[in-house]
Amino acid sequence: MSDLKKLNQIYEGKAKKVFATDSPDLYIVEYKDDATAFNGLKHGTIAGKGVINNKMSNLMFALLEKHGVKTHFVEQLSDRETVVKAVKIVPLEIIIRNVAAGSFSKRYGVEEGTALKCPTLEFSLKDDALNDPLINDSHIIALGVATEKELDDIRTLAYKVNDVLKEFFLSIGVKLIDFKIEAGRLPSGEIILADEISPDTCRFWDAKTNEKLDKDRFRRDLGGVEEAYQEIFKRINSK
Ligand code: TMP
Repeated sequence: MSDLKKLNQIYEGKAKKVFATDSPDLYIVEYKDDATAFNGLKHGTIAGKGVINNKMSNLMFALLEKHGVKTHFVEQLSDRETVVKAVKIVPLEIIIRNVAAGSFSKRYGVEEGTALKCPTLEFSLKDDALNDPLINDSHIIALGVATEKELDDIRTLAYKVNDVLKEFFLSIGVKLIDFKIEAGRLPSGEIILADEISPDTCRFWDAKTNEKLDKDRFRRDLGGVEEAYQEIFKRINSK
């Protein structure tokens, strides 16, 4: 893989850049320290975030692969760069919640920290111009965002990711409150897990104190942002 050539940038998101390579089946992602919230209204930098999110995502993808979940992860190239399988991202934010928090608490008037009777799954359409609106299964199929079969596969994937990650984080003293994942289509049409799994995309609360160990510290100006990312990464590496 060391002779893989990084070519032109094909995409720049809020937290990552994606580059083409001399292999049509592979991309290189590069993680940035940039942080945004509220659809880009709030901007900042979290020092060292790109390195932690890159390494942490790769560890999570490797763990999930071990449990039979197919992911885009191929090989870490450097502190901030990883080779991934080239996929077309399904434009959905796939969100699983175990405990009420964030927009769910606001929308339904449920106190943050209220345990849900079962994990919930919701979708938002990934569209910055529309502010990522909530979207239901029937809308997704009617608009051609995904087929019925793909949605089935995405649901199965999301709940499996939750089962594996919930157990893993509990074993390092962390409650997995909720998270967002993205799915990609391989050229064969198969749906696999893509994007990242990091404190940017998950809510992590300390199991004993409920201290927030994720990007909510940045979103809500709670301070100790870098320290929270480092703490999660330290606990993962202690396993
Ligand atoms: P929410 O409560 O704000 O809807 O967020 C649910 C989860 O999704 C939370 O773990 C943070 C994550 N998330 C993202 O990864 N990207 C986003 O743009 C948003 C709004 C949330």
